Amino acid sequence: MTRGAYKVADERLAEQGRLKIEWAESRMPVLMKLREKYAKTQPLKGQRIAGCLHVTKETAVLVRTLKAAGAEVSWSGCNPLSTQDDIAAALAAEGISIYAWHGMNKEEFYWCIDRTLDFKPTLTLDDGADLIFTVHSKYKELCSTIIGGTEETTTGVHRLRAMAEDGALKYPVIAINDAITKWDFDNVFGTGQSSIDGILRATSVMLAGKTFVVAGFGHCGRGCAMRARGMGARVVVTEILPTSALKATLEGYEVMTMDEAAKIGDIFITATGMKDIIVDRHFRSMKDGAIVCNTGHYDCEINLEQLGKLAKRVREVRPNNEEHTMADGRRIYVLAKGRLVNLAAAEGHPSEVMDMSFANQFQGMLRLAREGKTMKPNVYTLDPELDQEIAGIKLETSGIKIDHLTAEQEKYARDYSAGT
Ligand code: ADE
Repeated sequence: MTRGAYKVADERLAEQGRLKIEWAESRMPVLMKLREKYAKTQPLKGQRIAGCLHVTKETAVLVRTLKAAGAEVSWSGCNPLSTQDDIAAALAAEGISIYAWHGMNKEEFYWCIDRTLDFKPTLTLDDGADLIFTVHSKYKELCSTIIGGTEETTTGVHRLRAMAEDGALKYPVIAINDAITKWDFDNVFGTGQSSIDGILRATSVMLAGKTFVVAGFGHCGRGCAMRARGMGARVVVTEILPTSALKATLEGYEVMTMDEAAKIGDIFITATGMKDIIVDRHFRSMKDGAIVCNTGHYDCEINLEQLGKLAKRVREVRPNNEEHTMADGRRIYVLAKGRLVNLAAAEGHPSEVMDMSFANQFQGMLRLAREGKTMKPNVYTLDPELDQEIAGIKLETSGIKIDHLTAEQEKYARDYSAGT
């Protein structure tokens, strides 16, 4: 096997990474089924895919599947703290061109993205839109040979829609995030579980009885709130959208402003996609021992620069847990440097839910390889029928059967004359 060009932290971790990937494969039946099917027909033969997405065991299962379907792949991580070094080493050992290591700085982050563009991709696969933005700003000439791209996350889709509205988007992109089998599962149940997982690994605190403040009641915030409540926490939600605030209220959460919540919270998590959710005045009113973290894509939700100015001393007290001591002696604990706590302090969403997200990514790549050349530069969504197909395989492989309409019921569904 020829090795692709790569830069990883430690090649000796490859065997450990390989075992983890196998573990993930045993829990990702939808993607494995797609791999088996398309390994025979090779629909991605001739495609060069540049990917920029968290390097985890689940991502490795996607990468292997893209390769099995005929693609050449070059990969980088989409967050400086989310790469799992053993997985990166395992992929490099399998001949994948990969540039990723945990704890890189900003310059190295963009250097890695640049390297994945060296082989002049025909397709791009993003999580957060940094890759596609790099193509559009620094490597404009590639826009004419790239057939299309996919985007994994809410934040990235927002960026791309803004680009499309501005007429700045130069090739078609599929918003994977907008598939039901992505946002209604990954964003809610994935973020809910993995964020709690990250908080627990970084602190080992008891959640029962704590006041747990969730900023943002979108799908990710809803997942965090639900799981924190399940662990016995008193959950407080902060919001800016009246409809979301109302939903949170009717689901039984206390809703208040961050100014109020800051005074009473024990644990804070931001899930808004917006900057400056927790700032200077909030840090000033927090209790001694408050824990602060973020699960949004970018690290701008908690203003750590302002916290830095207030702190008299900063020290790491546990992995991914920094204690900031204020002048009055109060201590505030920041997890994972304000970056995605679920990926930086834990392993990201469980394989079972990434199975569906990445089945959508794979389908997105197939569609672009098939039709990308005929699609205008815009943001597209996947065919909703694919959602039913993916959810159907997920149920089938979980041994769950569901009912089906009878012919009589199908007729009833189409009959608009039937009333009382
Ligand atoms: N985003 C959230 N969890 C993830 C995971 N396990 N792998 C890749 N991307 C993710």
